[in-house]
Order: sequence, then structure tokens, then C-alpha cells
Amino acid sequence: MSGDYLLPRIASPEDPLRLAVLISGGGSGLRALLRYQSDGPRNHVTSLVISDLKSAGGLSHASDLEIHNLAIPLSQDLKGLERRKEHEDRIMEALVSNDIEMVVLSGYMRILTPTFVAEWKGRLVNIHPSLLPEFPGAHAQRDAINARVKVSGCTVHFVDEGVDTGTIIEQRSVPVLPGDTVETLTQRIKAVEHELYPKVLDDISSGRIST
Ligand code: GRF
Repeated sequence: MSGDYLLPRIASPEDPLRLAVLISGGGSGLRALLRYQSDGPRNHVTSLVISDLKSAGGLSHASDLEIHNLAIPLSQDLKGLERRKEHEDRIMEALVSNDIEMVVLSGYMRILTPTFVAEWKGRLVNIHPSLLPEFPGAHAQRDAINARVKVSGCTVHFVDEGVDTGTIIEQRSVPVLPGDTVETLTQRIKAVEHELYPKVLDDISSGRIST
């Protein structure tokens, strides 16, 4: 991994790494992570959940467990880069004021600016529903089906300035079956995502991932 990734500290169950999870949708991955964290002593804890959409169903998974959660929507008044920057400034404020040590993207549908990425590089991870570098972007499952591949899967990677291009940490494969739809493939991939993401967060917060 290149030198500009600054990894988080090695944590312990007594002093777990404080995560913020960023979502935009239903948050099934968030729910799986919260269950995993409440199931036993872990080296990481979800201290904050942020959605860019007020309507994101996933916020309720955090509320149910009384985990601090915020909707931070885009400004209605600003446009373009100014709007993105103002939005990220508000996210950054929430991260700092909640002593967040690492940012976990879990179905967060916005591309972060290079300024934001530079602040968190090495402490900013994403999960993507394909075996990167194959099928980056927002339609990974559809693209895999259209390409008639027999195997797809998911990838956890550090986020860099590109789209789904950061250093790969770990992947899991699933078969693509004849007759699969985007929905059936998505569900098969999510089942493995829900195991892989907590495991990778264990590895990072325990110092098992090195540069
Ligand atoms: C996951 O499939 C993840 O790979 C992608 O977005 C999806 C999020 O699903 N980045 P959910 O909101 O966690 O159900």
C-alpha cells in the first residue's frame, strides 16, 4: 500500500476504535455490523451513523440501538462544487465533534471530494458489490450479469481519490447463476458482505492490516 494511507491506531475492547458509518439507503450492512458489534467484545464500535438522505431507512437501525444518528442532507441553495464542499464540511464537523477515528462507507451513494479523502485516507473504507477492479460504479451487479461472468462477489477497499479504485483489502466470491436478476445477485452478494465487512474491521482495528 502506498505511503499516503495513514492507518488507525490498534484498538482494544476496552478502548474500541470509534467508527462513523455513512449510509444512503436501507442499511442492511449497517444492521449486520451493529449486530456483530453487540454480539461480543470487539475492537471497534459504531459511535455515529450519518445519512445524506433523511429518508434512508437504515437510520432506524441506529435509533433502535440508541446509537447517535444524523441526516445531513445537501443544501437546497448551493450548487456544484460549493454544495459538495459545504455538505462535506458539515459531515466533517459531526465526525470531529464525535471523536470519530474511522469512516465506514456502507451503501453511501455519494463520491467524496479529494479534500475529504485526503483527510481520512487509510481510515476510510468502502464495500463494493463486485470483485474489483471488475465492474466499478453504481451498477456493478447489472454489469456483471450483462458481461455473463460466472463469478462475482464483493470487495472491501480503502477509499482513494478515484471511484472504487483504492487499495483492495479483501474480497469474497459468489456464483452468478443462470437466470439471476440484479435483485437475486444483490441478495447473494449482501449475504457475504455482511460477514466480510465486520471481519475486515476486526483486522484493521487489531493491526492485522499493514501498509
Ligand atoms: C451494498 O451492496 C454495498 O456493496 C453497496 O451498497 C449496498 C448497500 O446496501 N455499496 P444496504 O443499504 O447496506 O442494504
